[in-house]
Amino acid sequence: MSKPSRTIYITGNWKMNLLGDEVSVLISELKESLDKSPDILDNKICIIFPPQPYIALAIEETRDCPIIVGGQNIFFESGGPFTGEVSPKMLTDLGARYVLIGHSERRTHFGEDSELSNLKVKAALAESLVPILCCGETLEERERKVTEMVAVDQIETACTGLSPEEISKIIIAYEPIWAIGSGKTVTPDDANHVHKLIRKVLRRNWSEKLAEGCSVLYGGSVTPDNIKDFMKMDEIDGVLVGGASLDSKSFLKIIAYDR
Ligand code: PGA
Repeated sequence: MSKPSRTIYITGNWKMNLLGDEVSVLISELKESLDKSPDILDNKICIIFPPQPYIALAIEETRDCPIIVGGQNIFFESGGPFTGEVSPKMLTDLGARYVLIGHSERRTHFGEDSELSNLKVKAALAESLVPILCCGETLEERERKVTEMVAVDQIETACTGLSPEEISKIIIAYEPIWAIGSGKTVTPDDANHVHKLIRKVLRRNWSEKLAEGCSVLYGGSVTPDNIKDFMKMDEIDGVLVGGASLDSKSFLKIIAYDR
């Protein structure tokens, strides 16, 4: 099976940026352009991840529009005394359909590890939320030349115990930590190499069919200027964009990379 048969995802992680009014403005600008040129989304799925307090607002504002809304994080329990946390059911109750899991900022600032990602992936799937599981190495790990080992370990640990049916539902995002928000990117060839390896892990632990069907996204300083180079690669099935998704013009250019 070749790349064109996999779903392409263009996704925007807004992180802890934007207040409610700004979320509304950004969505209305995206919507206006997509209304005028709906074809730029042909064969692609566009997902935005606004800050959690504005998910309901974003879902309301994207009604009648092909943009899909996801959450930036969840807890793995379904409810109870977990102050400050959001359950998977709460996200689906709001209408969110996707959730980021194991983003490096969760790992770096909140001590999350791949065992926790595993619990979260399972909890998301149990509520029919599609997990976008993030993995990636630090600069120090890259310099020690253990990138492959780190990515493989993160994916294997975070996917432990998943059935083939569950694996068929997940999306993976490779995001080298040192490339996030830094303006530095891996070369498209290097990213492609890690994506290939991630697929190899899926093949080894599950099956050829599941490995070939899984969309693997690249993230880390993606911009309108470099998107084409990444999307040319056989193993790259979309992007997870941070900074450049906060401006409608640049995010739209990224969405329309193939026009
Ligand atoms: P960036 O963020 O595009 O600003 O590097 C990517 C991400 O953290 O998902």
